Amino acid sequence: MTASFSMFATLKDKIAAREARVVTVGLGYVGLPLALTINESGYPVTGFDLNEARVAAINAGERVISYFPERRIADALAGGRFAATADRKALAAADIILICVPTPLSAVREPDLSYVVRAAETVAAELRPGQLIVLESTVWPGATATVVKPILEGGGLRAGTDFFLGFSPEREDPGNAKFDTKSIPKIVGADDAQSRDLLDRFYSNVVTRTVPVSSLATAEAVKLAENSFRTVNIALVNEMKVAMEAMGVDVWEVVQAAATKPFGYMPFYPGPGIGGDCIPVSPVYLSWRARDLGSATPIIDLARLTNDDAPDLIAGRVAVELAKDGGVAVKGARILILGIAYKKNVEDTRESPALAILNRLEEMGAACDYHDPYFPQMPVTRDHPNLAGRQSVVLSEETLAQYDAVVLTTDHTNVDYALVGLGARLILDTRNVFGGNGVALGRGRLVKI
Ligand SMILES: NC(=O)c1ccc[n+]([C@@H]2O[C@H](COP(=O)([O-])OP(=O)(O)OC[C@H]3O[C@@H](n4cnc5c(N)ncnc54)[C@H](O)[C@@H]3O)[C@@H](O)[C@H]2O)c1
Repeated sequence: MTASFSMFATLKDKIAAREARVVTVGLGYVGLPLALTINESGYPVTGFDLNEARVAAINAGERVISYFPERRIADALAGGRFAATADRKALAAADIILICVPTPLSAVREPDLSYVVRAAETVAAELRPGQLIVLESTVWPGATATVVKPILEGGGLRAGTDFFLGFSPEREDPGNAKFDTKSIPKIVGADDAQSRDLLDRFYSNVVTRTVPVSSLATAEAVKLAENSFRTVNIALVNEMKVAMEAMGVDVWEVVQAAATKPFGYMPFYPGPGIGGDCIPVSPVYLSWRARDLGSATPIIDLARLTNDDAPDLIAGRVAVELAKDGGVAVKGARILILGIAYKKNVEDTRESPALAILNRLEEMGAACDYHDPYFPQMPVTRDHPNLAGRQSVVLSEETLAQYDAVVLTTDHTNVDYALVGLGARLILDTRNVFGGNGVALGRGRLVKI
């Protein structure tokens, strides 16, 4: 069964004329850049978010995401075809609705689709014939068809007949200066040809390249394949770090040299563990669904375990290095954690290994402070609510001199590493910031861990 030709033709024409009204559901790290990129491509866009404070900040032209150009949001607002709202009635006026809400892990570390379900229920309440609904959030293969579609069809309209339904996984890499929403190719998948065609036409007008795939489930699986690949390779390089260190070899030098091979190798770098909303989460969606179907993903599971253990290993290593050369015991040691974001140049602590390391060191009896230019104050996090409210210490030679060790957990660009190199007694570098980049070291000792 296909949708009526006139419904299809109407939306196709609106997409071509850049008159299709777009609503993004969710204005986070994914939804907001997407909304702005679509608007910058000529479409009228309304961003819908339940968080009224965020909506107000966006409508006031605040930058909201630190790596955005200063005036990006203000310019979009000034154009008169972009606004944010917390009023779900905006959905009824839309021609295209893109769902970009979180898909975290539950407390028992299983897929949590509750945000997607709620967003789908909101869309369903306003659904009208001829709309194109697209899920962008990371989900397990089959979720759009078996979880989202039945909710949308609850009012009697049918996907592929009365409205169009697609999946296009977000591939946003916050803070990446080389690739942005527009230049990252977009996977577009649907279970019927008309939905896929509309999806493809729409995104082709927004991003530089689209990659149509044969079904919703295939598009969902692409995202999980990409992130599982990263998970496994990060675990592999962290494992190699430990093994090569025992051989007296610097794994960072090895990876940089290996990366000169023009084929068959891709560099992954060691670190304090994995964080963010994607890499620690997506492989769980894949392995959970595989188990559900009687299949297994032992390599992914082992990689996850390895990555989950990384912060504990780093904390243990900190204790060993502190105690070396008649040093100090970790119990009672004063330690500065340098960077609490899960990666450089973003204000995001979701699943951040730095927080796990800090917590672990305090469990071992150390007294920890932190410095992070993106977090003057420690935010409330689900896994470490006990840390909320702490203040980032100001970096100076005097403050650095008070710590037995500085653990470099996040390699933000806007940190004065020369000062850290001069003032710190012991630097434990998990990111290779001090490795061969010419930063002078004062009286301290540097250990890459
Ligand atoms: N952050 C990344 O780097 C990244 C990259 C690729 C893919 N993804 C995926 O994209 C999806 C969104 O992630 P994010 O990082 O943008 O999340 P986020 O937490 O930054 O933002 C989500 C936003 O959605 C809003 N929201 C939640 N439920 C809502 C609802 N029912 N109606 C309206 N608004 C609602 C929240 O208030 C929040 O502002 C996830 O599935 C994630 O896995 C994230």
